[in-house]
Amino acid sequence: MDRTHYCGELSEKAVDSDVVLYGWVKNTRNLGGCIFLDLRDREGIVQVVFDPADDRSVFEKASGLGREFVIRVTGKVRRRPNPNSKIPTGMVEVVATGVEVISRSEVPPIEVEDIITANEETRFRNRVLDLRRRPVQRIFKIRHKAVQSVRRYLDEQGYMELETPFLARSTPEGARDFLVPSRKQRGSFYALPQSPQLFKQLFMAAGFDRYFQVVKCFRDEDLRGERQPEFTQIDIEASFVEPEDIYELVDGLISRTWRDAIDAEVDLPLPRMTWQEAMDRFGSDKPDLRLNGMEIQDLSDVFKGSGFKVFESVIEDGGVVRGLAAPLAYGWSRKQVQDLEAVVKEHGAAGMAWVKLGDDNVTSGPLARFLNRERAEHIRRLAGIGEKPALVCVCAGKNTVTVPALGALRLELGKRLGLIERDTYRFAWITDFPLFEWSEEEHDWTPSHHPFTRPRIEDLALLDENPGGVRSLAYDIVCNGSEIGGGSIRIHEEDLQRRIFERLGISSREAEEKFGFFLRNLKFGTPPHGGVALGMDRITMILTGADSIREVIPFPKTTTGQCLLTNAPSRVDERQFRELGLELLR
Ligand code: AMO
Repeated sequence: MDRTHYCGELSEKAVDSDVVLYGWVKNTRNLGGCIFLDLRDREGIVQVVFDPADDRSVFEKASGLGREFVIRVTGKVRRRPNPNSKIPTGMVEVVATGVEVISRSEVPPIEVEDIITANEETRFRNRVLDLRRRPVQRIFKIRHKAVQSVRRYLDEQGYMELETPFLARSTPEGARDFLVPSRKQRGSFYALPQSPQLFKQLFMAAGFDRYFQVVKCFRDEDLRGERQPEFTQIDIEASFVEPEDIYELVDGLISRTWRDAIDAEVDLPLPRMTWQEAMDRFGSDKPDLRLNGMEIQDLSDVFKGSGFKVFESVIEDGGVVRGLAAPLAYGWSRKQVQDLEAVVKEHGAAGMAWVKLGDDNVTSGPLARFLNRERAEHIRRLAGIGEKPALVCVCAGKNTVTVPALGALRLELGKRLGLIERDTYRFAWITDFPLFEWSEEEHDWTPSHHPFTRPRIEDLALLDENPGGVRSLAYDIVCNGSEIGGGSIRIHEEDLQRRIFERLGISSREAEEKFGFFLRNLKFGTPPHGGVALGMDRITMILTGADSIREVIPFPKTTTGQCLLTNAPSRVDERQFRELGLELLR
Protein backbone atom coordinates (compact mmCIF):
# COMPACT_ATOMS: atom_id res chain seq x y z
CA MET A 1 0.00 0.00 0.00
CA ASP A 2 1.80 3.10 -1.18
CA ARG A 3 -0.96 5.63 -0.44
CA THR A 4 0.52 8.75 1.13
CA HIS A 5 -2.68 10.55 2.10
CA TYR A 6 -6.42 10.23 2.16
CA CYS A 7 -7.94 12.67 -0.36
CA GLY A 8 -9.81 14.54 2.35
CA GLU A 9 -6.64 15.03 4.40
CA LEU A 10 -4.80 17.31 1.98
CA SER A 11 -4.30 20.86 3.11
CA GLU A 12 -1.88 23.71 2.49
CA LYS A 13 0.59 21.85 4.70
CA ALA A 14 1.05 19.35 1.87
CA VAL A 15 1.86 21.95 -0.81
CA ASP A 16 4.80 20.83 -2.97
CA SER A 17 4.71 17.24 -1.70
CA ASP A 18 4.47 14.28 -4.03
CA VAL A 19 1.39 12.24 -3.21
CA VAL A 20 -0.16 8.90 -4.08
CA LEU A 21 -3.93 8.79 -3.74
CA TYR A 22 -6.52 6.06 -4.19
CA GLY A 23 -10.18 6.81 -4.56
CA TRP A 24 -13.38 6.96 -6.58
CA VAL A 25 -13.98 9.36 -9.45
CA LYS A 26 -16.79 11.64 -8.28
CA ASN A 27 -16.92 13.57 -11.54
CA THR A 28 -14.73 15.03 -14.28
CA ARG A 29 -14.95 18.38 -16.07
CA ASN A 30 -13.08 19.39 -19.17
CA LEU A 31 -12.36 23.10 -18.84
CA GLY A 32 -10.00 25.23 -20.89
CA GLY A 33 -8.29 22.14 -22.24
CA CYS A 34 -7.57 20.63 -18.80
CA ILE A 35 -9.45 17.82 -17.07
CA PHE A 36 -10.54 18.58 -13.51
CA LEU A 37 -11.40 15.46 -11.58
CA ASP A 38 -12.93 15.24 -8.09
CA LEU A 39 -11.40 12.26 -6.34
CA ARG A 40 -13.26 10.90 -3.33
CA ASP A 41 -12.38 8.55 -0.49
CA ARG A 42 -13.59 7.99 3.05
CA GLU A 43 -12.08 11.21 4.33
CA GLY A 44 -13.28 13.60 1.63
CA ILE A 45 -12.73 15.00 -1.84
CA VAL A 46 -9.80 16.64 -3.56
CA GLN A 47 -9.47 18.18 -6.99
CA VAL A 48 -6.98 16.55 -9.38
CA VAL A 49 -5.87 18.43 -12.51
CA PHE A 50 -4.72 16.78 -15.75
CA ASP A 51 -2.98 19.19 -18.09
CA PRO A 52 -2.18 17.90 -21.62
CA ALA A 53 0.85 20.20 -21.61
CA ASP A 54 2.36 18.17 -18.71
CA ASP A 55 2.02 14.64 -20.03
CA ARG A 56 -0.21 13.89 -23.01
CA SER A 57 -0.55 10.15 -22.26
CA VAL A 58 -1.66 10.75 -18.67
CA PHE A 59 -4.15 13.32 -19.95
CA GLU A 60 -5.55 10.83 -22.45
CA LYS A 61 -5.97 8.14 -19.78
CA ALA A 62 -7.85 10.65 -17.66
CA SER A 63 -10.26 11.41 -20.49
CA GLY A 64 -11.43 7.78 -20.41
CA LEU A 65 -12.42 7.87 -16.71
CA GLY A 66 -16.05 7.60 -15.68
CA ARG A 67 -17.99 8.15 -12.48
CA GLU A 68 -17.18 5.72 -9.65
CA PHE A 69 -14.08 4.26 -11.33
CA VAL A 70 -11.50 3.37 -8.67
CA ILE A 71 -8.17 4.93 -9.59
CA ARG A 72 -4.65 5.47 -8.33
CA VAL A 73 -3.30 8.95 -8.85
CA THR A 74 0.25 10.22 -8.40
CA GLY A 75 0.95 13.93 -8.44
CA LYS A 76 2.15 17.06 -6.73
CA VAL A 77 0.08 19.26 -4.43
CA ARG A 78 -0.17 22.95 -5.25
CA ARG A 79 -2.16 25.93 -4.04
CA ARG A 80 -5.37 26.36 -6.01
CA PRO A 81 -5.40 29.52 -8.08
CA ASN A 82 -9.14 29.88 -7.34
CA PRO A 83 -9.86 28.25 -3.93
CA ASN A 84 -13.16 26.50 -3.27
CA SER A 85 -14.42 27.35 0.21
CA LYS A 86 -17.16 24.70 -0.02
CA ILE A 87 -14.81 21.75 0.59
CA PRO A 88 -12.19 21.36 3.34
CA THR A 89 -9.42 20.66 0.80
CA GLY A 90 -10.51 23.64 -1.29
CA MET A 91 -7.24 25.55 -0.85
CA VAL A 92 -5.22 22.95 -2.78
CA GLU A 93 -5.29 20.68 -5.81
CA VAL A 94 -3.18 17.80 -7.08
CA VAL A 95 -1.43 18.15 -10.42
CA ALA A 96 -1.43 14.61 -11.76
CA THR A 97 1.76 12.98 -12.97
CA GLY A 98 0.18 9.54 -13.39
CA VAL A 99 -3.16 7.74 -13.27
CA GLU A 100 -4.09 4.08 -13.22
CA VAL A 101 -7.52 2.48 -13.42
CA ILE A 102 -7.83 -0.07 -10.61
CA SER A 103 -11.48 -0.91 -11.12
CA ARG A 104 -14.09 0.25 -13.62
CA SER A 105 -17.69 1.13 -12.87
CA GLU A 106 -20.89 0.87 -14.86
CA VAL A 107 -23.08 3.96 -14.82
CA PRO A 108 -24.22 4.01 -11.18
CA PRO A 109 -28.01 3.68 -10.65
CA ILE A 110 -27.98 6.42 -8.02
CA GLU A 111 -25.79 9.47 -7.84
CA VAL A 112 -23.10 9.53 -5.19
CA GLU A 113 -23.82 13.12 -4.20
CA ASP A 114 -24.75 14.82 -0.93
CA ILE A 115 -28.25 15.62 -2.06
CA ILE A 116 -29.95 13.22 -4.45
CA THR A 117 -33.39 12.76 -5.88
CA ALA A 118 -33.61 8.96 -5.50
CA ASN A 119 -36.33 7.85 -3.07
CA GLU A 120 -35.65 5.75 0.00
CA GLU A 121 -36.46 2.48 -1.72
CA THR A 122 -34.03 3.09 -4.57
CA ARG A 123 -31.39 4.20 -2.10
CA PHE A 124 -31.68 1.07 0.01
CA ARG A 125 -31.76 -1.19 -3.04
CA ASN A 126 -28.46 0.42 -3.97
CA ARG A 127 -27.26 0.80 -0.41
CA VAL A 128 -23.58 0.17 -1.25
CA LEU A 129 -23.49 3.22 -3.50
CA ASP A 130 -25.66 5.10 -1.05
CA LEU A 131 -23.17 4.33 1.74
CA ARG A 132 -20.48 6.12 -0.27
CA ARG A 133 -22.33 9.42 0.07
CA ARG A 134 -20.81 11.96 2.44
CA PRO A 135 -23.86 12.59 4.68
CA VAL A 136 -24.31 8.83 5.04
CA GLN A 137 -20.64 8.27 5.86
CA ARG A 138 -20.86 11.03 8.46
CA ILE A 139 -23.55 9.06 10.30
CA PHE A 140 -21.39 5.95 10.53
CA LYS A 141 -18.34 7.90 11.64
CA ILE A 142 -20.36 9.34 14.49
CA ARG A 143 -21.78 5.92 15.30
CA HIS A 144 -18.27 4.47 15.39
CA LYS A 145 -17.02 7.23 17.68
CA ALA A 146 -19.98 6.74 19.98
CA VAL A 147 -19.53 2.98 20.28
CA GLN A 148 -15.79 3.30 20.91
CA SER A 149 -16.47 5.96 23.52
CA VAL A 150 -18.97 3.69 25.29
CA ARG A 151 -16.53 0.79 25.30
CA ARG A 152 -13.71 2.91 26.71
CA TYR A 153 -15.92 4.41 29.37
CA LEU A 154 -17.38 1.13 30.57
CA ASP A 155 -13.96 -0.51 30.61
CA GLU A 156 -12.66 2.36 32.77
CA GLN A 157 -15.61 1.86 35.11
CA GLY A 158 -14.62 -1.77 35.61
CA TYR A 159 -17.22 -3.35 33.32
CA MET A 160 -16.24 -6.52 31.43
CA GLU A 161 -17.49 -7.12 27.89
CA LEU A 162 -18.88 -10.64 27.83
CA GLU A 163 -20.80 -12.44 25.10
CA THR A 164 -24.10 -14.27 25.29
CA PRO A 165 -25.64 -16.75 22.83
CA PHE A 166 -27.77 -15.83 19.84
CA LEU A 167 -29.08 -19.36 19.49
CA ALA A 168 -30.93 -19.23 22.75
CA ARG A 169 -34.20 -19.83 24.51
CA SER A 170 -36.99 -17.35 24.34
CA THR A 171 -36.61 -14.35 26.71
CA PRO A 172 -39.82 -12.45 27.24
CA GLU A 173 -39.43 -8.74 26.41
CA GLY A 174 -42.97 -8.39 25.18
CA ALA A 175 -42.39 -9.03 21.47
CA ARG A 176 -42.66 -12.14 19.32
CA ASP A 177 -39.55 -14.30 18.97
CA PHE A 178 -37.68 -15.03 15.78
CA LEU A 179 -37.32 -18.81 15.75
CA VAL A 180 -34.50 -20.91 14.33
CA PRO A 181 -35.32 -24.57 13.72
CA SER A 182 -32.83 -27.13 14.98
CA ARG A 183 -31.69 -29.76 12.46
CA LYS A 184 -30.12 -32.01 15.05
CA GLN A 185 -33.15 -31.92 17.32
CA ARG A 186 -36.03 -31.99 14.92
CA GLY A 187 -39.12 -30.17 16.07
CA SER A 188 -37.14 -28.02 18.51
CA PHE A 189 -36.36 -24.36 17.98
CA TYR A 190 -33.91 -21.82 19.21
CA ALA A 191 -35.20 -18.31 19.75
CA LEU A 192 -33.03 -15.36 18.81
CA PRO A 193 -32.71 -13.29 21.99
CA GLN A 194 -35.02 -10.28 22.37
CA SER A 195 -32.28 -9.15 24.76
CA PRO A 196 -29.59 -10.90 26.83
CA GLN A 197 -31.69 -10.26 29.95
CA LEU A 198 -31.51 -13.67 31.63
CA PHE A 199 -27.90 -14.33 30.64
CA LYS A 200 -26.72 -11.05 32.08
CA GLN A 201 -28.49 -11.80 35.32
CA LEU A 202 -26.80 -15.21 35.34
CA PHE A 203 -23.45 -13.44 34.89
CA MET A 204 -24.20 -11.69 38.18
CA ALA A 205 -24.97 -15.03 39.83
CA ALA A 206 -21.66 -16.21 38.36
CA GLY A 207 -19.83 -13.43 40.15
CA PHE A 208 -18.70 -11.23 37.24
CA ASP A 209 -20.02 -8.21 39.17
CA ARG A 210 -20.04 -5.75 36.24
CA TYR A 211 -20.95 -6.76 32.70
CA PHE A 212 -21.59 -4.98 29.45
CA GLN A 213 -22.04 -5.93 25.83
CA VAL A 214 -22.70 -4.07 22.60
CA VAL A 215 -25.13 -6.63 21.29
CA LYS A 216 -27.72 -7.34 18.63
CA CYS A 217 -31.25 -8.06 19.84
CA PHE A 218 -34.05 -9.53 17.76
CA ARG A 219 -37.74 -8.78 18.05
CA ASP A 220 -40.49 -9.73 15.69
CA GLU A 221 -42.72 -6.71 16.23
CA ASP A 222 -44.50 -4.02 14.28
CA LEU A 223 -41.79 -1.82 12.84
CA ARG A 224 -43.41 1.52 13.56
CA GLY A 225 -41.31 4.59 14.16
CA GLU A 226 -37.99 3.95 15.78
CA ARG A 227 -37.96 0.17 15.60
CA GLN A 228 -36.02 -2.44 13.69
CA PRO A 229 -36.36 -6.22 13.96
CA GLU A 230 -32.66 -6.45 14.77
CA PHE A 231 -31.15 -3.58 16.65
CA THR A 232 -28.18 -2.91 18.90
CA GLN A 233 -28.20 -2.48 22.64
CA ILE A 234 -25.52 -1.33 25.01
CA ASP A 235 -26.44 -3.87 27.61
CA ILE A 236 -25.28 -3.35 31.19
CA GLU A 237 -25.67 -5.22 34.48
CA ALA A 238 -24.04 -4.80 37.89
CA SER A 239 -24.23 -6.43 41.31
CA PHE A 240 -24.98 -4.76 44.65
CA VAL A 241 -26.39 -1.65 42.98
CA GLU A 242 -29.35 0.64 43.51
CA PRO A 243 -31.10 2.75 40.87
CA GLU A 244 -28.92 5.69 41.92
CA ASP A 245 -25.77 3.80 40.89
CA ILE A 246 -27.20 3.06 37.45
CA TYR A 247 -28.29 6.70 36.95
CA GLU A 248 -24.81 7.89 37.82
CA LEU A 249 -23.11 5.37 35.56
CA VAL A 250 -25.35 6.16 32.59
CA ASP A 251 -25.18 9.92 33.19
CA GLY A 252 -21.41 9.61 32.84
CA LEU A 253 -21.75 7.44 29.76
CA ILE A 254 -24.08 9.89 28.06
CA SER A 255 -21.95 12.92 28.79
CA ARG A 256 -18.79 11.15 27.59
CA THR A 257 -20.43 9.80 24.43
CA TRP A 258 -21.95 13.14 23.47
CA ARG A 259 -18.59 14.81 23.93
CA ASP A 260 -16.57 12.18 22.05
CA ALA A 261 -19.03 11.67 19.21
CA ILE A 262 -20.29 15.18 18.48
CA ASP A 263 -18.37 17.47 20.78
CA ALA A 264 -21.48 18.48 22.70
CA GLU A 265 -21.62 19.13 26.44
CA VAL A 266 -24.45 17.61 28.45
CA ASP A 267 -25.24 19.03 31.89
CA LEU A 268 -25.25 16.45 34.66
CA PRO A 269 -26.97 15.05 36.58
CA LEU A 270 -29.66 14.33 34.01
CA PRO A 271 -33.03 15.47 35.38
CA ARG A 272 -35.37 12.90 36.86
CA MET A 273 -39.10 12.64 37.30
CA THR A 274 -41.39 9.86 38.38
CA TRP A 275 -43.52 8.04 35.85
CA GLN A 276 -46.62 9.47 37.56
CA GLU A 277 -45.37 13.04 37.16
CA ALA A 278 -44.46 12.45 33.49
CA MET A 279 -47.90 11.08 32.75
CA ASP A 280 -49.75 13.80 34.68
CA ARG A 281 -47.82 16.72 33.22
CA PHE A 282 -46.92 15.54 29.72
CA GLY A 283 -49.24 12.60 29.07
CA SER A 284 -46.31 10.42 28.11
CA ASP A 285 -43.69 8.20 29.71
CA LYS A 286 -41.21 9.64 27.21
CA PRO A 287 -41.91 13.36 27.40
CA ASP A 288 -40.26 15.58 24.85
CA LEU A 289 -38.78 18.25 27.10
CA ARG A 290 -37.77 20.37 24.12
CA LEU A 291 -41.36 21.52 24.27
CA ASN A 292 -41.90 23.91 27.17
CA GLY A 293 -45.24 24.70 28.78
CA MET A 294 -48.69 23.61 27.58
CA GLU A 295 -48.75 21.02 30.34
CA ILE A 296 -51.82 18.89 30.91
CA GLN A 297 -54.19 19.99 33.68
CA ASP A 298 -56.85 18.10 35.58
CA LEU A 299 -60.02 20.09 34.79
CA SER A 300 -62.47 17.78 36.59
CA ASP A 301 -63.19 20.37 39.29
CA VAL A 302 -63.79 23.07 36.69
CA PHE A 303 -66.53 21.07 35.02
CA LYS A 304 -68.19 19.67 38.15
CA GLY A 305 -71.62 21.30 38.33
CA SER A 306 -71.05 23.16 35.06
CA GLY A 307 -74.14 21.67 33.49
CA PHE A 308 -72.18 19.91 30.76
CA LYS A 309 -73.72 16.48 31.14
CA VAL A 310 -71.17 14.56 29.06
CA PHE A 311 -68.26 15.60 31.28
CA GLU A 312 -70.26 15.29 34.49
CA SER A 313 -71.20 11.72 33.75
CA VAL A 314 -67.60 10.83 32.84
CA ILE A 315 -66.54 12.16 36.26
CA GLU A 316 -69.34 10.25 38.02
CA ASP A 317 -68.18 7.06 36.29
CA GLY A 318 -64.68 7.49 37.70
CA GLY A 319 -63.19 9.05 34.58
CA VAL A 320 -61.26 12.28 34.22
CA VAL A 321 -61.59 15.59 32.39
CA ARG A 322 -58.24 16.95 31.38
CA GLY A 323 -57.04 19.60 29.04
CA LEU A 324 -54.31 21.96 28.07
CA ALA A 325 -54.09 25.65 27.28
CA ALA A 326 -52.24 26.92 24.21
CA PRO A 327 -51.92 30.72 24.21
CA LEU A 328 -50.28 30.80 20.79
CA ALA A 329 -53.19 28.95 19.18
CA TYR A 330 -55.74 31.53 20.32
CA GLY A 331 -55.92 33.05 16.86
CA TRP A 332 -56.47 29.74 15.07
CA SER A 333 -59.49 29.32 12.85
CA ARG A 334 -62.33 26.97 13.80
CA LYS A 335 -61.10 24.56 11.11
CA GLN A 336 -57.52 24.61 12.43
CA VAL A 337 -58.79 23.81 15.91
CA GLN A 338 -61.19 21.11 14.79
CA ASP A 339 -58.41 19.41 12.80
CA LEU A 340 -56.75 18.66 16.12
CA GLU A 341 -59.54 16.29 17.04
CA ALA A 342 -58.13 13.68 14.64
CA VAL A 343 -54.97 13.55 16.77
CA VAL A 344 -56.76 12.61 19.98
CA LYS A 345 -59.08 10.22 18.18
CA GLU A 346 -56.12 8.41 16.71
CA HIS A 347 -55.04 7.79 20.28
CA GLY A 348 -58.38 6.39 21.33
CA ALA A 349 -60.10 9.43 22.83
CA ALA A 350 -63.79 9.81 22.00
CA GLY A 351 -63.35 13.40 20.92
CA MET A 352 -62.03 16.82 21.78
CA ALA A 353 -63.96 19.79 23.12
CA TRP A 354 -62.54 23.28 23.18
CA VAL A 355 -62.99 26.83 24.28
CA LYS A 356 -61.16 30.07 23.66
CA LEU A 357 -60.48 32.23 26.69
CA GLY A 358 -60.27 35.83 25.57
CA ASP A 359 -59.68 39.13 27.29
CA ASP A 360 -61.61 39.59 30.49
CA ASN A 361 -62.50 35.87 30.35
CA VAL A 362 -64.91 36.29 27.46
CA THR A 363 -65.21 32.78 26.10
CA SER A 364 -66.07 31.36 22.71
CA GLY A 365 -66.25 27.90 21.17
CA PRO A 366 -68.33 24.81 21.95
CA LEU A 367 -67.59 24.74 25.70
CA ALA A 368 -68.15 28.46 26.19
CA ARG A 369 -71.71 28.23 27.46
CA PHE A 370 -70.67 25.93 30.33
CA LEU A 371 -67.93 28.20 31.55
CA ASN A 372 -68.82 31.29 33.53
CA ARG A 373 -66.12 33.78 34.46
CA GLU A 374 -65.16 31.94 37.62
CA ARG A 375 -64.73 28.66 35.82
CA ALA A 376 -62.72 30.35 33.07
CA GLU A 377 -60.58 31.98 35.75
CA HIS A 378 -60.14 28.56 37.37
CA ILE A 379 -58.72 27.18 34.10
CA ARG A 380 -56.36 30.14 33.84
CA ARG A 381 -55.10 29.52 37.36
CA LEU A 382 -54.54 25.81 36.76
CA ALA A 383 -52.75 26.38 33.45
CA GLY A 384 -50.71 29.26 34.83
CA ILE A 385 -51.29 31.42 31.75
CA GLY A 386 -52.08 34.65 33.61
CA GLU A 387 -54.11 37.07 31.52
CA LYS A 388 -53.07 35.68 28.15
CA PRO A 389 -55.82 34.74 25.72
CA ALA A 390 -55.61 31.01 24.95
CA LEU A 391 -57.13 28.05 23.19
CA VAL A 392 -58.07 25.33 25.69
CA CYS A 393 -58.50 21.76 24.41
CA VAL A 394 -60.31 19.29 26.63
CA CYS A 395 -60.76 15.51 26.58
CA ALA A 396 -62.78 13.35 28.94
CA GLY A 397 -62.91 9.64 29.57
CA LYS A 398 -60.85 6.92 31.16
CA ASN A 399 -57.59 8.20 32.58
CA THR A 400 -55.54 5.60 30.69
CA VAL A 401 -56.89 6.82 27.33
CA THR A 402 -57.36 10.53 27.98
CA VAL A 403 -53.88 11.23 29.30
CA PRO A 404 -51.88 9.70 26.38
CA ALA A 405 -54.29 11.26 23.87
CA LEU A 406 -53.64 14.71 25.36
CA GLY A 407 -49.92 13.89 25.43
CA ALA A 408 -50.05 13.31 21.67
CA LEU A 409 -52.12 16.46 21.18
CA ARG A 410 -49.61 18.49 23.17
CA LEU A 411 -46.77 17.32 20.93
CA GLU A 412 -48.73 17.97 17.77
CA LEU A 413 -49.64 21.48 18.94
CA GLY A 414 -45.96 22.02 19.76
CA LYS A 415 -44.99 21.00 16.24
CA ARG A 416 -47.69 23.05 14.53
CA LEU A 417 -46.78 26.09 16.60
CA GLY A 418 -43.05 25.58 15.99
CA LEU A 419 -42.38 25.39 19.74
CA ILE A 420 -40.03 22.40 19.73
CA GLU A 421 -36.54 23.72 20.44
CA ARG A 422 -33.96 22.78 17.83
CA ASP A 423 -30.39 21.60 18.17
CA THR A 424 -30.74 20.69 21.79
CA TYR A 425 -30.67 17.46 23.79
CA ARG A 426 -33.23 17.26 26.55
CA PHE A 427 -32.80 14.16 28.68
CA ALA A 428 -34.75 12.79 31.60
CA TRP A 429 -34.81 9.71 33.74
CA ILE A 430 -38.34 8.45 34.23
CA THR A 431 -38.43 6.53 37.50
CA ASP A 432 -40.83 4.44 39.59
CA PHE A 433 -42.71 2.82 36.73
CA PRO A 434 -45.68 0.73 37.82
CA LEU A 435 -44.76 -2.95 38.00
CA PHE A 436 -47.72 -4.02 35.88
CA GLU A 437 -49.94 -2.52 33.25
CA TRP A 438 -53.38 -3.66 32.25
CA SER A 439 -53.49 -5.28 28.83
CA GLU A 440 -56.85 -4.92 27.10
CA GLU A 441 -55.70 -7.49 24.58
CA GLU A 442 -54.81 -10.19 27.10
CA HIS A 443 -57.38 -9.00 29.62
CA ASP A 444 -54.82 -9.36 32.37
CA TRP A 445 -51.96 -7.61 34.09
CA THR A 446 -48.71 -7.73 32.14
CA PRO A 447 -45.24 -6.54 33.18
CA SER A 448 -44.60 -2.87 32.34
CA HIS A 449 -40.92 -3.69 31.90
CA HIS A 450 -40.26 -7.42 32.11
CA PRO A 451 -41.11 -10.12 34.66
CA PHE A 452 -37.69 -9.96 36.36
CA THR A 453 -38.18 -6.38 37.58
CA ARG A 454 -38.08 -5.77 41.29
CA PRO A 455 -41.22 -4.40 42.94
CA ARG A 456 -40.90 -1.77 45.64
CA ILE A 457 -40.98 -4.00 48.68
CA GLU A 458 -43.26 -1.56 50.57
CA ASP A 459 -45.87 -1.94 47.77
CA LEU A 460 -45.89 -5.75 47.84
CA ALA A 461 -48.98 -5.79 50.08
CA LEU A 462 -50.95 -4.48 47.07
CA LEU A 463 -49.87 -7.35 44.82
CA ASP A 464 -53.18 -9.18 45.09
CA GLU A 465 -55.89 -6.52 45.54
CA ASN A 466 -54.41 -3.70 43.50
CA PRO A 467 -51.62 -4.89 41.17
CA GLY A 468 -51.83 -1.61 39.24
CA GLY A 469 -50.76 0.26 42.37
CA VAL A 470 -47.47 -1.64 42.85
CA ARG A 471 -44.50 0.51 41.88
CA SER A 472 -41.29 -0.99 40.63
CA LEU A 473 -37.60 -0.21 40.64
CA ALA A 474 -37.71 0.28 36.88
CA TYR A 475 -36.57 3.35 35.00
CA ASP A 476 -36.26 4.62 31.46
CA ILE A 477 -33.98 7.25 30.06
CA VAL A 478 -35.47 9.51 27.41
CA CYS A 479 -33.97 12.12 25.13
CA ASN A 480 -35.95 14.52 22.97
CA GLY A 481 -39.08 12.41 23.37
CA SER A 482 -37.44 9.13 22.43
CA GLU A 483 -36.93 6.22 24.85
CA ILE A 484 -33.22 5.61 24.52
CA GLY A 485 -32.90 3.10 27.33
CA GLY A 486 -34.60 1.18 30.06
CA GLY A 487 -33.71 -1.02 32.97
CA SER A 488 -34.44 -2.01 36.52
CA ILE A 489 -33.21 -3.54 39.71
CA ARG A 490 -34.06 -7.24 39.51
CA ILE A 491 -35.59 -9.86 41.68
CA HIS A 492 -32.75 -11.98 43.05
CA GLU A 493 -34.81 -14.20 45.33
CA GLU A 494 -36.31 -17.34 43.88
CA ASP A 495 -39.48 -17.19 45.99
CA LEU A 496 -40.28 -13.59 45.07
CA GLN A 497 -39.63 -14.38 41.39
CA ARG A 498 -42.08 -17.28 41.60
CA ARG A 499 -44.66 -15.04 43.29
CA ILE A 500 -44.44 -12.50 40.45
CA PHE A 501 -44.75 -15.23 37.83
CA GLU A 502 -47.86 -16.44 39.62
CA ARG A 503 -49.37 -12.95 39.64
CA LEU A 504 -48.67 -12.79 35.89
CA GLY A 505 -50.64 -15.98 35.42
CA ILE A 506 -47.55 -18.07 34.65
CA SER A 507 -48.24 -21.44 36.29
CA SER A 508 -45.45 -23.10 38.25
CA ARG A 509 -45.26 -25.77 35.54
CA GLU A 510 -44.87 -23.17 32.83
CA ALA A 511 -42.35 -21.24 34.95
CA GLU A 512 -40.36 -24.43 35.43
CA GLU A 513 -40.48 -25.27 31.74
CA LYS A 514 -39.56 -21.80 30.45
CA PHE A 515 -37.38 -20.42 33.20
CA GLY A 516 -36.33 -23.50 35.18
CA PHE A 517 -32.69 -22.98 34.19
CA PHE A 518 -32.87 -19.44 35.48
CA LEU A 519 -34.78 -20.08 38.70
CA ARG A 520 -32.50 -22.97 39.61
CA ASN A 521 -29.51 -20.69 39.39
CA LEU A 522 -31.02 -18.13 41.74
CA LYS A 523 -30.75 -20.76 44.49
CA PHE A 524 -27.00 -20.82 44.89
CA GLY A 525 -26.19 -17.41 46.24
CA THR A 526 -27.32 -14.69 43.84
CA PRO A 527 -26.23 -11.14 44.68
CA PRO A 528 -28.77 -8.34 44.41
CA HIS A 529 -28.30 -6.79 40.97
CA GLY A 530 -29.72 -4.47 38.35
CA GLY A 531 -28.93 -2.88 35.05
CA VAL A 532 -30.04 -1.09 31.97
CA ALA A 533 -29.95 -1.38 28.19
CA LEU A 534 -29.49 1.60 25.89
CA GLY A 535 -30.72 1.58 22.30
CA MET A 536 -27.61 2.31 20.25
CA ASP A 537 -29.59 2.94 17.08
CA ARG A 538 -31.86 5.49 18.74
CA ILE A 539 -28.87 7.17 20.36
CA THR A 540 -27.20 7.41 16.97
CA MET A 541 -30.37 8.91 15.48
CA ILE A 542 -30.24 11.67 18.06
CA LEU A 543 -26.49 12.23 17.76
CA THR A 544 -26.70 12.52 13.97
CA GLY A 545 -30.11 14.19 13.68
CA ALA A 546 -31.26 11.34 11.41
CA ASP A 547 -35.01 11.28 10.89
CA SER A 548 -35.36 7.52 10.56
CA ILE A 549 -33.78 4.55 12.33
CA ARG A 550 -33.04 3.07 8.90
CA GLU A 551 -30.54 5.84 8.23
CA VAL A 552 -28.30 4.82 11.13
CA ILE A 553 -28.08 1.11 10.28
CA PRO A 554 -25.79 0.19 7.37
CA PHE A 555 -28.07 -2.54 6.04
CA PRO A 556 -31.52 -1.92 7.53
CA LYS A 557 -34.92 -3.54 7.04
CA THR A 558 -38.03 -1.88 5.64
CA THR A 559 -41.20 -1.58 7.68
CA THR A 560 -42.23 -4.95 6.26
CA GLY A 561 -39.01 -6.49 7.56
CA GLN A 562 -37.33 -6.76 4.16
CA CYS A 563 -33.70 -6.09 3.33
CA LEU A 564 -33.89 -4.39 -0.07
CA LEU A 565 -30.23 -5.08 -0.78
CA THR A 566 -30.28 -8.86 -0.33
CA ASN A 567 -34.03 -9.45 -0.65
CA ALA A 568 -34.07 -11.28 2.66
CA PRO A 569 -36.23 -12.94 3.83
CA SER A 570 -36.28 -15.40 0.94
CA ARG A 571 -37.69 -18.80 0.14
CA VAL A 572 -35.51 -21.81 0.87
CA ASP A 573 -35.02 -25.19 -0.82
CA GLU A 574 -37.38 -28.08 -0.25
CA ARG A 575 -34.26 -30.01 0.78
CA GLN A 576 -33.59 -27.60 3.63
CA PHE A 577 -37.15 -28.03 4.83
CA ARG A 578 -36.80 -31.81 4.72
CA GLU A 579 -33.55 -31.73 6.69
CA LEU A 580 -35.24 -29.66 9.34
CA GLY A 581 -38.30 -31.89 9.38
CA LEU A 582 -40.50 -28.97 8.39
CA GLU A 583 -43.32 -28.58 5.95
CA LEU A 584 -44.83 -25.31 4.75
CA LEU A 585 -48.59 -24.94 5.13
CA ARG A 586 -50.01 -23.80 1.83
P1 AMO B 1 -36.02 -2.63 26.55
O1 AMO B 1 -36.94 -3.61 25.95
O2 AMO B 1 -36.61 -1.39 27.16
O3 AMO B 1 -35.20 -3.30 27.74
O4 AMO B 1 -34.95 -2.21 25.47
C1 AMO B 1 -33.91 -1.30 25.78
C2 AMO B 1 -33.79 -0.24 24.71
O5 AMO B 1 -33.57 -0.82 23.44
C3 AMO B 1 -34.15 0.01 22.42
N1 AMO B 1 -35.09 -0.80 21.62
C4 AMO B 1 -35.14 -0.79 20.28
N2 AMO B 1 -34.45 -0.09 19.36
C5 AMO B 1 -34.71 -0.31 18.06
N3 AMO B 1 -35.62 -1.19 17.61
C6 AMO B 1 -36.35 -1.94 18.48
N4 AMO B 1 -37.23 -2.84 18.02
C7 AMO B 1 -36.13 -1.74 19.89
N5 AMO B 1 -36.64 -2.27 21.02
C8 AMO B 1 -36.00 -1.69 22.05
C9 AMO B 1 -34.86 1.14 23.13
C10 AMO B 1 -35.04 0.59 24.52
O6 AMO B 1 -35.10 1.62 25.48
N6 AMO B 1 -33.50 -6.32 28.85
C11 AMO B 1 -34.07 -5.01 29.04
C12 AMO B 1 -33.09 -4.02 29.62
C13 AMO B 1 -32.85 -4.18 31.08
O7 AMO B 1 -33.82 -4.42 31.84
O8 AMO B 1 -31.69 -4.07 31.49
C14 AMO B 1 -34.53 -4.49 27.66
O9 AMO B 1 -34.23 -5.04 26.62
O10 AMO B 1 -34.02 2.27 23.14
